[in-house]
Amino acid sequence: MTRFAPDRPLQLAPATVLDYRELARRRLPRQLFDYVDGGAYEEATMRANVDDLGQVLLRQVVMRDVSERDPSVEVLGQRFAIPVALAPVGRGGMLAPRAEVQAARAAESFGVPFVESTVSICPIEEVAKAVGSPPWFQLYVMRDRGFAEDLIGRARDVGSPVLVLTIDLAVVGARHRDTRNAMVGTPSTWAKIRRGLDIASHPAWIRGTAIGGRPLTFGNLEKAVPGARSPEAFKSWVDSQFDPSVTWEDIAWVRDLWPGKLVVKGVLDPEDARRAADAGVDGIVVSNHGGRQLDAVPSTARALPAVAEAVGDLVDVLADGGVRTGLDVVKMVALGARAVLVGRPWAWAVAARGRAGVGHMLEVLKADIDTALALTGNSSMAEVDRSALYSDGAAAPAY
Ligand SMILES: Cc1cc2nc3c(=O)[nH]c(=O)nc-3n(C[C@H](O)[C@H](O)[C@H](O)COP(=O)(O)O)c2cc1C
Repeated sequence: MTRFAPDRPLQLAPATVLDYRELARRRLPRQLFDYVDGGAYEEATMRANVDDLGQVLLRQVVMRDVSERDPSVEVLGQRFAIPVALAPVGRGGMLAPRAEVQAARAAESFGVPFVESTVSICPIEEVAKAVGSPPWFQLYVMRDRGFAEDLIGRARDVGSPVLVLTIDLAVVGARHRDTRNAMVGTPSTWAKIRRGLDIASHPAWIRGTAIGGRPLTFGNLEKAVPGARSPEAFKSWVDSQFDPSVTWEDIAWVRDLWPGKLVVKGVLDPEDARRAADAGVDGIVVSNHGGRQLDAVPSTARALPAVAEAVGDLVDVLADGGVRTGLDVVKMVALGARAVLVGRPWAWAVAARGRAGVGHMLEVLKADIDTALALTGNSSMAEVDRSALYSDGAAAPAY
Protein backbone atom coordinates (compact mmCIF):
# COMPACT_ATOMS: atom_id res chain seq x y z
CA MET A 1 0.00 0.00 0.00
CA THR A 2 2.13 2.86 -1.17
CA ARG A 3 -0.58 5.46 -0.89
CA PHE A 4 -0.78 5.33 2.88
CA ALA A 5 1.89 4.66 5.43
CA PRO A 6 0.82 1.43 7.11
CA ASP A 7 0.55 1.17 10.86
CA ARG A 8 1.24 4.83 11.35
CA PRO A 9 0.86 6.28 14.79
CA LEU A 10 -2.47 7.73 15.75
CA GLN A 11 -2.53 10.87 17.86
CA LEU A 12 -5.83 11.59 19.57
CA ALA A 13 -8.74 10.86 17.30
CA PRO A 14 -9.35 8.95 14.08
CA ALA A 15 -9.57 11.26 11.08
CA THR A 16 -9.45 8.84 8.17
CA VAL A 17 -10.40 5.31 7.19
CA LEU A 18 -6.76 4.30 7.60
CA ASP A 19 -6.83 5.58 11.19
CA TYR A 20 -9.64 3.11 11.80
CA ARG A 21 -7.44 0.40 10.30
CA GLU A 22 -4.75 1.27 12.81
CA LEU A 23 -7.23 1.23 15.70
CA ALA A 24 -8.56 -2.14 14.54
CA ARG A 25 -5.00 -3.48 14.37
CA ARG A 26 -4.48 -2.54 18.00
CA ARG A 27 -7.78 -3.96 19.17
CA LEU A 28 -8.15 -7.26 17.32
CA PRO A 29 -6.31 -10.54 17.75
CA ARG A 30 -3.73 -10.72 14.97
CA GLN A 31 -5.53 -13.60 13.22
CA LEU A 32 -8.73 -11.51 12.89
CA PHE A 33 -6.96 -8.34 11.83
CA ASP A 34 -5.10 -10.30 9.13
CA TYR A 35 -8.30 -12.03 8.05
CA VAL A 36 -9.79 -8.61 7.24
CA ASP A 37 -6.64 -6.87 6.06
CA GLY A 38 -5.30 -9.60 3.80
CA GLY A 39 -5.91 -10.73 0.26
CA ALA A 40 -5.15 -13.68 -1.98
CA TYR A 41 -1.72 -15.00 -2.98
CA GLU A 42 0.84 -12.16 -3.22
CA GLU A 43 -1.89 -9.58 -2.59
CA ALA A 44 -0.91 -7.76 -5.80
CA THR A 45 -4.50 -7.10 -6.87
CA MET A 46 -5.44 -6.00 -3.38
CA ARG A 47 -2.63 -3.44 -3.41
CA ALA A 48 -3.44 -2.40 -6.99
CA ASN A 49 -7.03 -1.63 -5.98
CA VAL A 50 -5.70 1.08 -3.68
CA ASP A 51 -2.72 2.19 -5.74
CA ASP A 52 -4.52 2.47 -9.08
CA LEU A 53 -7.25 4.61 -7.56
CA GLY A 54 -4.44 6.78 -6.21
CA GLN A 55 -3.15 7.25 -9.75
CA VAL A 56 -6.48 8.58 -10.99
CA LEU A 57 -6.39 12.37 -10.87
CA LEU A 58 -9.29 14.74 -10.40
CA ARG A 59 -9.67 17.81 -12.57
CA GLN A 60 -9.86 20.98 -10.52
CA VAL A 61 -12.38 23.43 -11.93
CA VAL A 62 -12.87 26.76 -10.13
CA MET A 63 -15.16 29.80 -10.16
CA ARG A 64 -18.41 27.89 -10.61
CA ASP A 65 -21.37 28.46 -8.33
CA VAL A 66 -21.12 25.40 -6.13
CA SER A 67 -22.80 26.91 -3.08
CA GLU A 68 -25.40 24.08 -3.10
CA ARG A 69 -23.98 20.57 -3.25
CA ASP A 70 -25.95 17.33 -3.31
CA PRO A 71 -23.89 14.16 -2.72
CA SER A 72 -26.88 11.80 -2.91
CA VAL A 73 -27.59 9.40 -5.76
CA GLU A 74 -30.36 7.08 -6.83
CA VAL A 75 -29.30 3.47 -7.33
CA LEU A 76 -31.57 0.48 -7.92
CA GLY A 77 -34.57 2.63 -7.13
CA GLN A 78 -33.18 3.67 -3.75
CA ARG A 79 -31.83 7.05 -2.65
CA PHE A 80 -28.35 6.84 -1.06
CA ALA A 81 -27.18 9.83 1.05
CA ILE A 82 -23.78 9.35 -0.60
CA PRO A 83 -22.87 6.85 -3.34
CA VAL A 84 -21.65 4.27 -0.85
CA ALA A 85 -23.00 0.99 0.53
CA LEU A 86 -21.47 -1.26 3.17
CA ALA A 87 -20.21 -4.37 1.36
CA PRO A 88 -20.96 -7.91 2.54
CA VAL A 89 -18.22 -8.92 4.98
CA GLY A 90 -18.30 -12.51 6.22
CA ARG A 91 -17.66 -13.12 9.94
CA GLY A 92 -18.23 -9.43 10.67
CA GLY A 93 -19.62 -10.32 14.08
CA MET A 94 -16.20 -11.59 15.15
CA LEU A 95 -14.84 -8.05 14.93
CA ALA A 96 -17.18 -6.40 17.44
CA PRO A 97 -20.23 -7.46 19.47
CA ARG A 98 -23.14 -8.16 17.07
CA ALA A 99 -21.18 -6.11 14.53
CA GLU A 100 -23.61 -6.58 11.65
CA VAL A 101 -26.39 -5.06 13.74
CA GLN A 102 -24.16 -2.17 14.76
CA ALA A 103 -23.08 -1.50 11.18
CA ALA A 104 -26.61 -1.82 9.79
CA ARG A 105 -27.85 0.71 12.34
CA ALA A 106 -25.06 3.13 11.45
CA ALA A 107 -25.78 2.70 7.74
CA GLU A 108 -29.49 3.28 8.23
CA SER A 109 -29.01 6.43 10.32
CA PHE A 110 -26.67 7.77 7.69
CA GLY A 111 -28.90 6.83 4.76
CA VAL A 112 -26.91 4.17 2.91
CA PRO A 113 -27.55 0.43 2.44
CA PHE A 114 -25.96 -2.33 4.48
CA VAL A 115 -25.38 -5.63 2.70
CA GLU A 116 -25.70 -8.66 4.97
CA SER A 117 -23.29 -11.47 4.02
CA THR A 118 -24.40 -15.09 3.78
CA VAL A 119 -21.63 -15.86 6.26
CA SER A 120 -22.50 -13.18 8.80
CA ILE A 121 -22.53 -13.93 12.49
CA CYS A 122 -25.89 -12.20 13.09
CA PRO A 123 -28.75 -13.80 11.15
CA ILE A 124 -30.65 -11.71 8.62
CA GLU A 125 -33.73 -11.71 10.88
CA GLU A 126 -31.77 -10.16 13.77
CA VAL A 127 -30.34 -7.43 11.56
CA ALA A 128 -33.69 -6.70 9.92
CA LYS A 129 -35.39 -6.44 13.31
CA ALA A 130 -32.79 -3.95 14.54
CA VAL A 131 -33.39 -1.45 11.74
CA GLY A 132 -36.39 0.18 10.09
CA SER A 133 -35.48 -0.65 6.50
CA PRO A 134 -34.22 -4.20 5.94
CA PRO A 135 -30.68 -4.80 4.73
CA TRP A 136 -29.72 -6.03 1.29
CA PHE A 137 -28.81 -9.71 1.31
CA GLN A 138 -25.74 -11.27 -0.29
CA LEU A 139 -25.97 -14.88 -1.40
CA TYR A 140 -23.43 -17.43 -2.54
CA VAL A 141 -25.01 -19.98 -4.86
CA MET A 142 -24.50 -23.21 -2.99
CA ARG A 143 -24.37 -26.82 -4.04
CA ASP A 144 -27.32 -27.42 -1.76
CA ARG A 145 -29.86 -25.52 -3.84
CA GLY A 146 -32.60 -26.30 -1.36
CA PHE A 147 -30.65 -24.43 1.30
CA ALA A 148 -29.93 -21.51 -1.04
CA GLU A 149 -33.67 -21.37 -1.79
CA ASP A 150 -34.39 -21.31 1.92
CA LEU A 151 -31.98 -18.37 2.39
CA ILE A 152 -33.58 -16.47 -0.49
CA GLY A 153 -36.94 -17.07 1.18
CA ARG A 154 -35.64 -15.70 4.49
CA ALA A 155 -34.30 -12.55 2.82
CA ARG A 156 -37.64 -12.15 1.03
CA ASP A 157 -39.58 -12.66 4.27
CA VAL A 158 -37.73 -9.89 6.11
CA GLY A 159 -38.29 -7.56 3.15
CA SER A 160 -34.76 -7.20 1.73
CA PRO A 161 -35.07 -4.98 -1.32
CA VAL A 162 -31.94 -6.20 -3.13
CA LEU A 163 -30.35 -9.64 -3.50
CA VAL A 164 -26.63 -9.53 -4.27
CA LEU A 165 -25.47 -12.77 -5.82
CA THR A 166 -21.71 -13.14 -5.45
CA ILE A 167 -20.39 -14.95 -8.51
CA ASP A 168 -16.61 -14.79 -8.14
CA LEU A 169 -16.30 -17.59 -5.61
CA ALA A 170 -16.51 -20.70 -7.77
CA VAL A 171 -13.41 -21.74 -5.84
CA VAL A 172 -11.74 -20.00 -2.90
CA GLY A 173 -8.51 -18.07 -3.56
CA ALA A 174 -5.61 -18.94 -1.23
CA ARG A 175 -5.18 -16.37 1.50
CA HIS A 176 -1.72 -17.02 2.83
CA ARG A 177 -2.09 -14.88 5.93
CA ASP A 178 -4.98 -17.09 7.07
CA THR A 179 -2.86 -20.20 6.48
CA ARG A 180 0.03 -18.74 8.45
CA ASN A 181 -2.34 -17.84 11.28
CA ALA A 182 -3.74 -21.39 11.24
CA MET A 183 -7.19 -20.08 10.37
CA VAL A 184 -7.48 -22.63 7.55
CA GLY A 185 -6.30 -26.17 7.12
CA THR A 186 -5.71 -28.59 9.97
CA PRO A 187 -3.60 -26.72 12.47
CA SER A 188 -1.04 -28.54 14.59
CA THR A 189 -1.42 -28.51 18.37
CA TRP A 190 1.39 -25.95 18.54
CA ALA A 191 -0.43 -23.71 16.03
CA LYS A 192 -3.61 -24.01 18.06
CA ILE A 193 -1.74 -22.97 21.19
CA ARG A 194 -0.28 -19.96 19.37
CA ARG A 195 -3.75 -19.02 18.16
CA GLY A 196 -5.02 -19.27 21.70
CA LEU A 197 -2.20 -17.05 22.95
CA ASP A 198 -3.00 -14.48 20.28
CA ILE A 199 -6.58 -14.37 21.54
CA ALA A 200 -5.57 -14.44 25.21
CA SER A 201 -3.44 -11.35 24.69
CA HIS A 202 -6.54 -9.33 23.71
CA PRO A 203 -8.67 -9.37 26.87
CA ALA A 204 -10.81 -6.41 25.80
CA TRP A 205 -11.80 -8.28 22.64
CA ILE A 206 -12.51 -11.42 24.69
CA ARG A 207 -14.71 -9.50 27.12
CA GLY A 208 -16.57 -7.40 24.57
CA THR A 209 -16.84 -9.58 21.51
CA ALA A 210 -16.10 -13.20 22.37
CA ILE A 211 -18.16 -13.18 25.56
CA GLY A 212 -20.45 -10.19 24.98
CA GLY A 213 -21.08 -10.85 21.28
CA ARG A 214 -21.37 -14.67 21.11
CA PRO A 215 -19.73 -14.94 17.68
CA LEU A 216 -19.59 -18.73 17.57
CA THR A 217 -22.26 -19.42 14.99
CA PHE A 218 -23.01 -18.18 11.51
CA GLY A 219 -26.56 -16.98 11.97
CA ASN A 220 -27.72 -17.62 8.41
CA LEU A 221 -26.26 -21.12 8.29
CA GLU A 222 -27.30 -22.59 11.61
CA LYS A 223 -29.97 -24.74 10.02
CA ALA A 224 -27.48 -26.20 7.58
CA VAL A 225 -24.93 -27.16 10.22
CA PRO A 226 -27.11 -27.99 13.21
CA GLY A 227 -25.35 -28.22 16.53
CA ALA A 228 -22.09 -26.74 15.22
CA ARG A 229 -20.46 -24.61 17.85
CA SER A 230 -17.21 -23.59 16.25
CA PRO A 231 -16.33 -21.34 13.33
CA GLU A 232 -14.22 -24.23 11.95
CA ALA A 233 -17.27 -26.51 11.68
CA PHE A 234 -19.09 -23.86 9.70
CA LYS A 235 -16.08 -23.10 7.58
CA SER A 236 -15.67 -26.66 6.38
CA TRP A 237 -19.37 -26.77 5.50
CA VAL A 238 -19.22 -23.44 3.68
CA ASP A 239 -16.07 -24.44 1.77
CA SER A 240 -17.77 -27.62 0.61
CA GLN A 241 -20.71 -25.57 -0.63
CA PHE A 242 -19.10 -23.23 -3.18
CA ASP A 243 -20.35 -24.49 -6.49
CA PRO A 244 -18.03 -24.28 -9.51
CA SER A 245 -20.78 -25.55 -11.82
CA VAL A 246 -22.87 -22.35 -11.63
CA THR A 247 -23.45 -20.63 -14.99
CA TRP A 248 -25.43 -17.67 -16.32
CA GLU A 249 -28.37 -20.06 -16.84
CA ASP A 250 -28.72 -20.28 -13.04
CA ILE A 251 -29.62 -16.59 -12.89
CA ALA A 252 -33.07 -17.51 -14.20
CA TRP A 253 -33.53 -19.86 -11.24
CA VAL A 254 -32.70 -17.06 -8.80
CA ARG A 255 -34.87 -14.61 -10.73
CA ASP A 256 -37.87 -16.88 -10.36
CA LEU A 257 -37.41 -17.01 -6.60
CA TRP A 258 -36.58 -13.36 -6.02
CA PRO A 259 -39.18 -10.63 -6.51
CA GLY A 260 -36.86 -7.68 -5.74
CA LYS A 261 -33.84 -6.18 -7.45
CA LEU A 262 -31.11 -8.64 -8.39
CA VAL A 263 -27.43 -7.71 -8.51
CA VAL A 264 -24.45 -9.88 -9.41
CA LYS A 265 -21.16 -9.13 -7.68
CA GLY A 266 -17.75 -10.07 -9.00
CA VAL A 267 -17.75 -9.01 -12.65
CA LEU A 268 -14.51 -7.62 -14.13
CA ASP A 269 -14.92 -8.31 -17.82
CA PRO A 270 -17.16 -6.39 -20.27
CA GLU A 271 -18.21 -9.63 -21.97
CA ASP A 272 -19.35 -11.07 -18.61
CA ALA A 273 -21.14 -7.80 -17.90
CA ARG A 274 -23.11 -8.16 -21.15
CA ARG A 275 -23.99 -11.73 -20.23
CA ALA A 276 -25.23 -10.49 -16.87
CA ALA A 277 -27.36 -7.81 -18.52
CA ASP A 278 -28.75 -10.40 -20.96
CA ALA A 279 -29.56 -12.66 -18.02
CA GLY A 280 -31.85 -9.94 -16.71
CA VAL A 281 -30.06 -8.62 -13.62
CA ASP A 282 -30.77 -5.10 -12.43
CA GLY A 283 -27.23 -4.31 -11.41
CA ILE A 284 -23.66 -5.53 -11.31
CA VAL A 285 -20.81 -4.91 -8.91
CA VAL A 286 -17.46 -4.58 -10.65
CA SER A 287 -15.32 -6.33 -8.09
CA ASN A 288 -12.34 -8.60 -7.55
CA HIS A 289 -13.58 -9.41 -4.04
CA GLY A 290 -11.20 -6.86 -2.55
CA GLY A 291 -8.23 -8.79 -4.01
CA ARG A 292 -9.20 -11.88 -2.05
CA GLN A 293 -9.82 -14.25 -4.95
CA LEU A 294 -7.73 -14.40 -8.13
CA ASP A 295 -4.56 -12.40 -7.69
CA ALA A 296 -3.06 -10.66 -10.74
CA VAL A 297 -6.43 -9.62 -12.13
CA PRO A 298 -6.84 -5.91 -12.79
CA SER A 299 -7.77 -3.49 -10.07
CA THR A 300 -11.35 -2.31 -10.11
CA ALA A 301 -10.34 1.20 -11.11
CA ARG A 302 -8.72 -0.29 -14.20
CA ALA A 303 -11.55 -2.69 -15.07
CA LEU A 304 -14.47 -0.36 -14.39
CA PRO A 305 -14.47 2.02 -17.41
CA ALA A 306 -14.78 -0.73 -20.04
CA VAL A 307 -17.52 -2.49 -18.08
CA ALA A 308 -19.45 0.75 -17.54
CA GLU A 309 -19.10 1.54 -21.22
CA ALA A 310 -20.47 -1.89 -22.14
CA VAL A 311 -23.52 -2.02 -19.88
CA GLY A 312 -23.87 1.31 -18.06
CA ASP A 313 -27.04 2.09 -20.02
CA LEU A 314 -28.59 -1.32 -19.34
CA VAL A 315 -27.97 -1.98 -15.66
CA ASP A 316 -26.86 -0.07 -12.57
CA VAL A 317 -23.10 -0.43 -12.31
CA LEU A 318 -21.59 -0.45 -8.83
CA ALA A 319 -17.93 -1.07 -7.99
CA ASP A 320 -15.80 -1.96 -5.01
CA GLY A 321 -12.18 -2.45 -4.05
CA GLY A 322 -9.67 -0.05 -2.57
CA VAL A 323 -12.00 2.84 -1.77
CA ARG A 324 -10.44 4.52 1.27
CA THR A 325 -11.52 8.17 0.93
CA GLY A 326 -14.43 10.18 -0.37
CA LEU A 327 -12.18 11.35 -3.18
CA ASP A 328 -11.91 7.69 -4.21
CA VAL A 329 -15.71 7.53 -4.25
CA VAL A 330 -15.86 10.49 -6.64
CA LYS A 331 -13.15 8.93 -8.81
CA MET A 332 -15.07 5.64 -9.06
CA VAL A 333 -18.23 7.52 -10.02
CA ALA A 334 -16.27 9.49 -12.62
CA LEU A 335 -14.94 6.19 -13.99
CA GLY A 336 -18.50 4.93 -14.51
CA ALA A 337 -19.92 3.58 -11.22
CA ARG A 338 -23.22 4.82 -9.84
CA ALA A 339 -22.06 3.94 -6.34
CA VAL A 340 -19.34 2.02 -4.56
CA LEU A 341 -19.26 -0.61 -1.85
CA VAL A 342 -16.73 -0.41 0.96
CA GLY A 343 -15.67 -3.60 2.74
CA ARG A 344 -12.58 -3.21 4.90
CA PRO A 345 -13.36 0.42 5.82
CA TRP A 346 -16.51 -0.55 7.72
CA ALA A 347 -14.91 -3.68 9.12
CA TRP A 348 -12.06 -1.62 10.60
CA ALA A 349 -14.42 1.08 11.87
CA VAL A 350 -16.76 -1.37 13.58
CA ALA A 351 -13.83 -3.24 15.13
CA ALA A 352 -12.42 0.04 16.45
CA ARG A 353 -15.50 1.90 17.65
CA GLY A 354 -18.64 -0.10 16.85
CA ARG A 355 -21.68 1.68 15.46
CA ALA A 356 -20.24 5.14 16.22
CA GLY A 357 -17.07 4.27 14.31
CA VAL A 358 -19.02 3.20 11.21
CA GLY A 359 -21.15 6.35 11.40
CA HIS A 360 -18.05 8.53 11.71
CA MET A 361 -16.30 6.71 8.88
CA LEU A 362 -19.28 7.51 6.63
CA GLU A 363 -19.18 11.16 7.76
CA VAL A 364 -15.51 11.30 6.82
CA LEU A 365 -16.29 9.97 3.33
CA LYS A 366 -19.13 12.47 2.98
CA ALA A 367 -16.94 15.43 3.92
CA ASP A 368 -14.32 14.36 1.34
CA ILE A 369 -17.02 13.95 -1.31
CA ASP A 370 -18.36 17.40 -0.58
CA THR A 371 -14.94 18.99 -1.07
CA ALA A 372 -14.33 17.01 -4.24
CA LEU A 373 -17.69 18.07 -5.69
CA ALA A 374 -16.99 21.74 -4.98
CA LEU A 375 -13.47 21.77 -6.39
CA THR A 376 -14.31 19.78 -9.50
CA GLY A 377 -17.04 22.34 -10.18
CA ASN A 378 -19.97 19.99 -9.61
CA SER A 379 -23.12 20.85 -7.67
CA SER A 380 -24.35 17.29 -7.40
CA MET A 381 -23.11 13.74 -7.59
CA ALA A 382 -25.44 13.19 -10.55
CA GLU A 383 -23.31 15.63 -12.59
CA VAL A 384 -20.06 13.76 -12.01
CA ASP A 385 -18.75 12.02 -15.12
CA ARG A 386 -15.45 11.49 -16.92
CA SER A 387 -15.01 15.25 -17.22
CA ALA A 388 -14.26 15.29 -13.48
CA LEU A 389 -10.98 13.47 -14.22
CA TYR A 390 -7.73 15.13 -15.21
CA SER A 391 -6.22 13.95 -18.43
CA ASP A 392 -2.91 15.09 -19.78
CA GLY A 393 -3.03 13.28 -23.09
CA ALA A 394 -0.27 10.79 -23.77
CA ALA A 395 0.93 10.73 -20.18
CA ALA A 396 -2.52 9.87 -18.82
CA PRO A 397 -2.87 6.41 -17.34
CA ALA A 398 -5.01 4.02 -19.36
CA TYR A 399 -8.23 4.30 -17.40
C1 LIG B 1 -13.07 -9.76 5.69
C2 LIG B 1 -13.84 -9.76 4.39
C3 LIG B 1 -14.88 -10.65 4.23
C4 LIG B 1 -15.63 -10.63 3.05
N1 LIG B 1 -16.71 -11.45 2.94
C5 LIG B 1 -17.48 -11.39 1.84
C6 LIG B 1 -18.66 -12.15 1.75
O1 LIG B 1 -19.05 -12.86 2.66
N2 LIG B 1 -19.39 -12.05 0.60
C7 LIG B 1 -18.99 -11.26 -0.45
O2 LIG B 1 -19.67 -11.20 -1.47
N3 LIG B 1 -17.88 -10.51 -0.37
C8 LIG B 1 -17.12 -10.55 0.74
N4 LIG B 1 -16.01 -9.76 0.82
C9 LIG B 1 -15.67 -8.84 -0.27
C10 LIG B 1 -16.35 -7.48 -0.04
O3 LIG B 1 -17.73 -7.59 -0.16
C11 LIG B 1 -15.85 -6.43 -1.05
O4 LIG B 1 -15.96 -6.94 -2.35
C12 LIG B 1 -14.41 -5.99 -0.80
O5 LIG B 1 -14.14 -5.96 0.58
C13 LIG B 1 -14.18 -4.62 -1.39
O6 LIG B 1 -12.87 -4.20 -1.20
P1 LIG B 1 -12.40 -3.23 -0.01
O7 LIG B 1 -12.31 -4.11 1.20
O8 LIG B 1 -11.07 -2.77 -0.47
O9 LIG B 1 -13.43 -2.15 0.13
C14 LIG B 1 -15.26 -9.75 2.00
C15 LIG B 1 -14.20 -8.87 2.18
C16 LIG B 1 -13.49 -8.85 3.37
C17 LIG B 1 -12.38 -7.86 3.54
